[in-house]
Amino acid sequence: MEAVIPMDHIPVLLGEVSEYLKPEPNNLLIDGTVGLGGHAQALLPRVLPGGRLLGIDKDADNLEIARQRLSRFGESVVLVRDSYANIKTHAHAHQFHSVDSILLDLGFSSVHVDDPERGFSFRQDGPLDMRYDRSQEITAEMVVNEWSLEELARIFRQYGEEKKARQIAEAIVSARAQTPFSSTTQLAAMIAQTQRQRGRIHPATKIFQALRIAVNDELGELERVLPDCVDLLQVGGRLAIISFHSLEDRIIKQFFKSHSVLKVVSKRPITASQEEVKKNPRARSAKLRVAEKI
Ligand SMILES: C[S@@+](CC[C@H](N)C(=O)[O-])C[C@H]1O[C@@H](n2cnc3c(N)ncnc32)[C@H](O)[C@@H]1O
Repeated sequence: MEAVIPMDHIPVLLGEVSEYLKPEPNNLLIDGTVGLGGHAQALLPRVLPGGRLLGIDKDADNLEIARQRLSRFGESVVLVRDSYANIKTHAHAHQFHSVDSILLDLGFSSVHVDDPERGFSFRQDGPLDMRYDRSQEITAEMVVNEWSLEELARIFRQYGEEKKARQIAEAIVSARAQTPFSSTTQLAAMIAQTQRQRGRIHPATKIFQALRIAVNDELGELERVLPDCVDLLQVGGRLAIISFHSLEDRIIKQFFKSHSVLKVVSKRPITASQEEVKKNPRARSAKLRVAEKI
């Protein structure tokens, strides 16, 4: 069945990505999180004629949407379903050596949050899934029902930056002994019962972030891909990364600063204009950092 292409998909910080990556004809471009193909669709015409784009994504459904959106570019596009952590293998397999630009637009896409079946959001009821790659074994349900109290407390503290991490982990461990968790709203409601809401943020928000990061090993994969991106770039080539929370941004900032062959192009993180945020509220937390290989 043909995937439905979301026409209203707005790629985050598109103008800024384009400005900093400066794509030109004959360029080799890797989009490690090609997603719905939004950034790729805008960048591809600028590398033609002669250029090519390698698009990688863990999510088969998103990749199918990207395939349709980018079909008019024919053989200038290669799409691969895998983690960007394996970027080097795929780059070499498809003759992407001495690459001009690499883009990573981290995290989830609108499709993930809007589809209750994917289990990323507690706004609608769905299974506790949260996998980008649905062929992966570990799900949020397994984490919530099987991980130890210590492991849960650790991910809530480290990945959710949740002050009540241990208290919430204890509540989960005690509740799951009676009835294992199977749905997003069941988990969110239990957390809401034990934690008072402070401000407008639902008390389950940080816990859901922590679970998503743990299920997809988001920080581990980011740490693994960064040195490989540097190896793949040619001198003068640029790496642009859009992140959505401080844990990712810290890893990127420190890596850019500490790597001897990188020059930081964006001294401060580039953020979305008020106009963009009005049109696309998710852009509010986006931070773009760009480095050049020297
Ligand atoms: C914010 S979306 C990218 C949107 C894309 N830039 C566009 O304009 O359509 C992030 C994408 O990264 C994918 N993703 C997350 N972690 C990944 C990983 N480790 N490897 C490959 N893809 C990943 C998700 O499946 C999602 O499609």
